[in-house]
Amino acid sequence: MSEGENARELLIRFLKQRAELGERDWFLEELTAERALELLRSRTPRFAPAPAPSHTRPLRSASPEFEALRDEVLACTLCRLAEGRTSVVFGEGDPHADLLVIGEAPGHAEDRSGRPFVGPAGKLLDKMLLAVGFLRAEVFICNVLKCRPPENRDPWPDEVASCRPYLRRQLELIAPKAICAFGRFAAQTLLNSDQSLSRLRGTVHEFIGTPVIVTYHPAALLRNAQWKRPAWDDLKLLRRVYDEGGGRTPRGELG
Ligand code: URA
Repeated sequence: MSEGENARELLIRFLKQRAELGERDWFLEELTAERALELLRSRTPRFAPAPAPSHTRPLRSASPEFEALRDEVLACTLCRLAEGRTSVVFGEGDPHADLLVIGEAPGHAEDRSGRPFVGPAGKLLDKMLLAVGFLRAEVFICNVLKCRPPENRDPWPDEVASCRPYLRRQLELIAPKAICAFGRFAAQTLLNSDQSLSRLRGTVHEFIGTPVIVTYHPAALLRNAQWKRPAWDDLKLLRRVYDEGGGRTPRGELG
């Protein structure tokens, strides 16, 4: 066996072990374990990953339609934000997730890495999701806007209009059981409303037939600790709606 083949065998064995342990998280910038296994499998079918333990999900890859949408979004030049971006942030997670998480727009860290919610707000988002049972890797996380507005300014209406069909398509292809909109902007855009966040939260809304729960943006919670309590109420509501809608038991709950 050549040195290259040997390294490949070792990598496959390593990935299979991580998969058997139920790990799906990213382990290199912009390369998920799931994607790495997909790439390896596509070249060596005999190394398909071992079945995941019964308490975890099988590895699930994205449909060709979802990959085509990703390619389209990554090449988008519909609005001025294409000019200043480092990356398009399509979103990440399980392409068949039962929970879709939506934020506003990529910030500096997201623009640099091409991944959503990776800065301090992202760390809090992960904790919020886990508090109601969800591992980051088993939901799908994206934003209303796929490119960073300069200096993190509020998105402009024509930018939202350009990106909106992408979000809609993501939703149709993922077909989640519930959506959580984090922050005023995501909530207002999704619900086509100009009501304040405090008016929108606490009730179950709907976007193209999918229930939507609205809560505070994690970045706002980092600045306003007094909102953590109501945010916790929102997350409990989210979990209830998710369960009632037939969402699969989240893996974060199973430990
Ligand atoms: N804030 C958002 O709304 N989305 C991100 O991806 C990061 C910060």
